[in-house]
Amino acid sequence: MPDPIHLSPAKWLAAILVHGVEQIALIVAATLGLTTANAWSQTTSPTPQPASAATVGLAIALKKEELAPYDITVFPNGRGLPPGQGRVTQGRVLYANQCAACHGPSGTEGPAARLVGSDGFIGWDDPLRPLRIAKHPLLVQSVGARWPYATTVFDYIRRAMPYHAPKSLENDDIYALTAFLLYRNGLLDASAVINASTLPKVVMPAAAKTVMEH
Ligand code: HEC
Repeated sequence: MPDPIHLSPAKWLAAILVHGVEQIALIVAATLGLTTANAWSQTTSPTPQPASAATVGLAIALKKEELAPYDITVFPNGRGLPPGQGRVTQGRVLYANQCAACHGPSGTEGPAARLVGSDGFIGWDDPLRPLRIAKHPLLVQSVGARWPYATTVFDYIRRAMPYHAPKSLENDDIYALTAFLLYRNGLLDASAVINASTLPKVVMPAAAKTVMEH
């Protein structure tokens, strides 16, 4: 093979022309996506696809019935309350069987949290209160005194009580127990029936003492 440095001027000219045509051909081919290098990169490095939830086994959407046991929040306005209803009289029996052992026969004795009575010993808006609360003369708060929404009583009992067997009560039983506790706190008549439309209407004394952030 001759040393290219020693090519004749005519051969140099021919080489430059051939090389130029080759370059132009490569540029045209690349623009049209026809070069072999481009084809190789397409077959061996496909665009990465996002892994689907099914492939990696994460974040699989739950079915409605799978979610239902956890989707139990009841909001202050009653949103989330289930169908069903309960009476104070039914709640009295349920309370004696399922709750009294821990909360006391009338909801005041304990040993677990007090559920009935007293809205506290000291109140700056009512300095003479200690003289007025002869019945429960201690700073002991209860559902009736401290909870701003009646609907929360339902929510709490449903998700947390009885302590040893949460979520074991039927909705009708929870309505009945809620009715009984509200009745024992002087907030409902003995004849009351509560359900998703009547429970949110019970006005709790603590609502007036609660600062809402909207
Ligand atoms: C085995 C004992 C036990 C039984 C039975 C039980 N509770 Fe409770 N309850 C507790 C304890 C302990 C707490 C406090 C839980 C906490 O603060 O985490 C509590 C708290 C509560 C509260 C919230 C009180 C507050 O002001 O914070 C309510 C309402 C309540 N129980 C209702 C009921 C009802 C209704 C029943 C019957 C269905 C019941 N409990 C059965 C032990 C019990």
